[in-house]
Amino acid sequence: MYSQLPLFQSEPPPSYPIAPFKTQLLKWVGNKQRFAHEIIGYFPATYNTYFEPFLGSGAILGTLAPENAVASDVLKPLVEIWQTLKTAPETLKLWYEQRWDVYQSQDRVAAYEQIKSSYNAQPNAADLLFVSRSCYGGVVRFRKDGYISTPCGIHAPIQPESFANRVDIWGTRTKGTEFIYGDFEDSMDSAQKGDLIYCDPPYTYTQAILYGAQKFSLERLFNAIARCKTRGVYVALSLDGTKKTGKQELFIPVPTGLFEQEIHVNVGRSMLKRFQMAGETLEAEVVSDRLLLTY
Ligand SMILES: C[S@@+](CC[C@H](N)C(=O)[O-])C[C@H]1O[C@@H](n2cnc3c(N)ncnc32)[C@H](O)[C@@H]1O
Repeated sequence: MYSQLPLFQSEPPPSYPIAPFKTQLLKWVGNKQRFAHEIIGYFPATYNTYFEPFLGSGAILGTLAPENAVASDVLKPLVEIWQTLKTAPETLKLWYEQRWDVYQSQDRVAAYEQIKSSYNAQPNAADLLFVSRSCYGGVVRFRKDGYISTPCGIHAPIQPESFANRVDIWGTRTKGTEFIYGDFEDSMDSAQKGDLIYCDPPYTYTQAILYGAQKFSLERLFNAIARCKTRGVYVALSLDGTKKTGKQELFIPVPTGLFEQEIHVNVGRSMLKRFQMAGETLEAEVVSDRLLLTY
């Protein structure tokens, strides 16, 4: 059975236990970098291992810098970036620098398209890394067949030295994290009593295609959360605030009794809409994210 309304809303905590951390390693659509500390403010005071099964650019993970964590995503080249951060950070720096050199030495749009074509011919972590930092609006957009379709960004990507610095910072913050390629269900089913899982799935109504996330279904996620709750695993879930039907805003229904609290987190302007509305005014596009807690 599904309910349309929030169960109850909490006031935001008076102060957040963790400072904002704004240094992104990757640019990723739907990233939670600016609000990560606010979301973390609603995590349980204590827990064992931290799980992030929809990792993307890992905003929450990087801000939290947990001692023990398991982070995963279903996009293999993305996970390979994270695994390289852990096992061979100098390689990650080199990948970026090599592509930045190509980008600097010729027409930048042509260079970007060359790197994007190289990814599309054979998806790989090195090209994805550079595309994520240099594509339009930081929105790596995947077609159904896995091709990246985003055009070249307007601004020059960060210098290799700056990227290398970020690699060092992120390497330190994720040193207790194991990075795994895989579906969210496998990761969530491996969590044990006392662990915490933060879920930031593809925006259900609009984003599924962006990540080529055909395997994602909200119902499958709700079932996995229910199994976790039964085992005593804490789950925090971010959900796209609303579905717009004309002027009406509809909440995505959630199963009755699954969540104990619902909080509205201000995530500002939607990155996805910014991409779709390139060049247009964004005044009307302020959205809020729902944070649902099983505890
Ligand atoms: C909204 S993004 C996460 C953004 C992240 N919180 C950040 O700050 O960048 C959703 C992520 O879920 C991943 N994803 C989609 N379907 C998945 C699945 N079935 N299992 C695991 N990850 C999946 C996508 O590849 C994408 O990186």
